[in-house]
Amino acid sequence: MEKISAEIYRKIDNEIYNAGGDIWWGLDSVMLLLKTSVNPCRVGYFKNLIYQMKINPEGKTALEVGCGGGILTEEISRMGFITTGVDPSEGSLQSAANHARLEGLSIQYDKGAGEQLPYADASFDFVFCCDVLEHVMDLPKVIAEISRVLKPGGVFFYDTLNRTFISKLVAIKIWQEWKRWAFMPPNLHVWEMFIKPEEIKTLLRQNGLEWKAHRGSQPNVSIPKLLGYLRKRAKGEWTYADLGKHFWLVESNDMNILYMGYAVKK
Ligand SMILES: C[S@@+](CC[C@H](N)C(=O)[O-])C[C@H]1O[C@@H](n2cnc3c(N)ncnc32)[C@H](O)[C@@H]1O
Repeated sequence: MEKISAEIYRKIDNEIYNAGGDIWWGLDSVMLLLKTSVNPCRVGYFKNLIYQMKINPEGKTALEVGCGGGILTEEISRMGFITTGVDPSEGSLQSAANHARLEGLSIQYDKGAGEQLPYADASFDFVFCCDVLEHVMDLPKVIAEISRVLKPGGVFFYDTLNRTFISKLVAIKIWQEWKRWAFMPPNLHVWEMFIKPEEIKTLLRQNGLEWKAHRGSQPNVSIPKLLGYLRKRAKGEWTYADLGKHFWLVESNDMNILYMGYAVKK
């Protein structure tokens, strides 16, 4: 897989993360769904793998690439890792640092892009990169950088969006474009930047990372029920916090839209 063209990259709205205000933790912010509806599934999956690998996170170092406001970073820290988050958005880092302070968590937040991580080779035991790989211009460089900063034997955990007909219909049309249900701003995601599992497997292999597994996720409720919930949110009857109380992701064999996975540095 190649670096994304400038023409396609221009379409994605990565500026939203600099919007200021409480875009990450506010009760009526779309990003809050990362906590209420996405974290339980992905954190559960990663924790289970860590348990199966018989790894005690205490004293181990973990980096989250593209940490945003710290919604996943805080869970990594709570697992016991010595935790660092890195992101290009200063506004998001500010929000992350403020929230960590309120929660009494000790997390190092640094400014930087995945394409050029500000860390020495072999700095981390674990790297997490969730809901970020489909936002970057140079995916091959980001994977190369993640591999570079991982120690030999270190583990890379990720999740991302698959590039399929179904993901175009659901993640672009329903989630972003069709006003009847849309709950994400337009251009939060760009379909052409989604990544097929085979593409990420190739990039991992090319960068000295041994791919181990992929797992899909799907809504906890049926599609008609979910559309009903999204309609309530779109009409203003529900906040994002209300939506998050009814809808969340669960693990599934279906990788048509979202999938998670991990690889080990050789
Ligand atoms: C949807 S948010 C995900 C935040 C966090 N990982 C989570 O899942 O809670 C995407 C994040 O990717 C960041 N991002 C965009 N381009 C990036 C790049 N080239 N390298 C690293 N992070 C990037 C954005 O600033 C934003 O914080």
